[in-house]
Amino acid sequence: MAFDHSKYIPFQPVRKTDRRWPDQVIEKAPTWCAVDLRDGNQALVKPMTVAQKQRLFDLLVKVGFKEIEIGFPAASQPDFDFCRKLIEEDRIPDDVRIQVLTQARPELIERTYQALEGAKRAIVHVYNSTSTVQRQQVFGMDREGVKQIAVNGAKVVKDLATRYPETDWTFQYSPESFTGTELDYAAEVVDAVTEVWRPDLGQKVIINLPATVEMATPNVFADQIEWICDKIQRREHLSVSVHTHNDRGCGVAAAELAVMAGADRVEGTLMGNGERTGNMDLVTMAMNLYSQGIDPQVDMSNMAEITDVVEACTEISTHPRHPYAGELVFTAFSGSHQDAIRKCLAYRNDGDKWNVAYLPIDPRDLGRRYEEVVRINSQSGKGGVAHVLERDYKISLPRWLQIEFSQCVQREAETNGGEIDSHTIHRLFEDRYLAVADGWRLSTYDLHRDEEGVNATIKFGKPAVELKGHGLGAVEAVVASLQDRYGISVAVEAYDEFALGEGTTANAMACIRTVVNGEVHSSAALAEDTTSATLQALLSAVGNHVVATAEAEPATA
Ligand code: KIV
Ligand code: ZN
Repeated sequence: MAFDHSKYIPFQPVRKTDRRWPDQVIEKAPTWCAVDLRDGNQALVKPMTVAQKQRLFDLLVKVGFKEIEIGFPAASQPDFDFCRKLIEEDRIPDDVRIQVLTQARPELIERTYQALEGAKRAIVHVYNSTSTVQRQQVFGMDREGVKQIAVNGAKVVKDLATRYPETDWTFQYSPESFTGTELDYAAEVVDAVTEVWRPDLGQKVIINLPATVEMATPNVFADQIEWICDKIQRREHLSVSVHTHNDRGCGVAAAELAVMAGADRVEGTLMGNGERTGNMDLVTMAMNLYSQGIDPQVDMSNMAEITDVVEACTEISTHPRHPYAGELVFTAFSGSHQDAIRKCLAYRNDGDKWNVAYLPIDPRDLGRRYEEVVRINSQSGKGGVAHVLERDYKISLPRWLQIEFSQCVQREAETNGGEIDSHTIHRLFEDRYLAVADGWRLSTYDLHRDEEGVNATIKFGKPAVELKGHGLGAVEAVVASLQDRYGISVAVEAYDEFALGEGTTANAMACIRTVVNGEVHSSAALAEDTTSATLQALLSAVGNHVVATAEAEPATA
């Protein structure tokens, strides 16, 4: 059998009895390091050109990242050239620290320093893989041998830095594949490296712990981070960084839990581009903090620009459901969601804290519009349809008409199988409720009240039909005249009239639901005053019945 789970070895978590991180709450943003131009770039089908790298670098700076890994210059000539370009063209703001990656090999470290010559400040990031699988199967080396690679690399990094005293250096070490490394051994290697670098004597040092491959649930990663933070020497002089990948789909969760467990710094990429299933997504993690009222220390307000630039540079499109950035993430199609959102937005006052059902953050904070929130398809209900008419056409429907009209919209959506835009909804409303049958347009009306009620005279159609009737109110009087004239029974079941909001030519709208000879006919009308609107709506409803009946009857000779 090919699909055989028994072939896999369950991850053995660290046995921890003094776990503290579950009680921690993140209250401030970690130090961010964007690795789009290195880890992200290494994962692309078509690595970025220098122009694309420049564009993405400028975006990262604009968003506010202060540490940016720009490449692997000893391994790639374009990366080397890009590094030189940034330095020689003075394109690195003073508060930004570039970072470059190198393997722990002397000749590569030497070349790395050449790439960085003249930088005001920089992070030299040296790594070697420490995992059991790589020691056994890739390098054929024991623990001591692999530790020596790290120590030798650290020594070369330290020695060569003295050749470039004009640069403010930070050293970074990653035991690559940390999640697949025995914890006590990872701590031993890290200690050996910091013994060389001596952060306690003033050297800036970052220890970066990568989930090069995400191998377990995020709580296990948090345990590993808390364990190692407790164990390593010189902890208070170090910046502990995490670099998570997303193999199990939990890259962001693992980084968040790692921060709760003591990590100071987080590496990731915008939108999570990176090897295999990607790196930890900086957009998601930063916005998660933002949605908790925490300053993320980066500005994502122009999300459209972020997605545009990332897409252009990586040639990977953004998933429509990507947290915070996808086209559909602020859109509700479902009727009950639309209804709740509509009510919460109406309930809100300017300056209130954000507390809107189904919208974890205000779409406007990311440059999105409320117009995108409610979109209609066959899953939508009366609330959504009413919201669209109200929002785009200032038409507020009474509840009974919302129910009736939304069924009509739903039928249309089921027939066309997709989304129904606001223009189509309005057209359906016009065709179904506002259209006036030939010969049924109101031209004048005259109402007189006496002790017994109202005497109404109406004229409609061309040539004009004039009708007179009496009733307790205007509607009843006109109903009486219509019953008389056409020999039909007319009952008014529901009737609403209201003034319209600004931005329309008509001032009033009326909606009426009648039962004519046992058949339901609903209509609406727009007019300059509420009485005209009401009488027109009534004429339209009755007219629809009369016209339909005449059409259905065979012509007599
Ligand atoms: O995923 C990884 O381990 C890396 C290291 C080089 C930090 O990208
Ligand atoms: Zn990585």
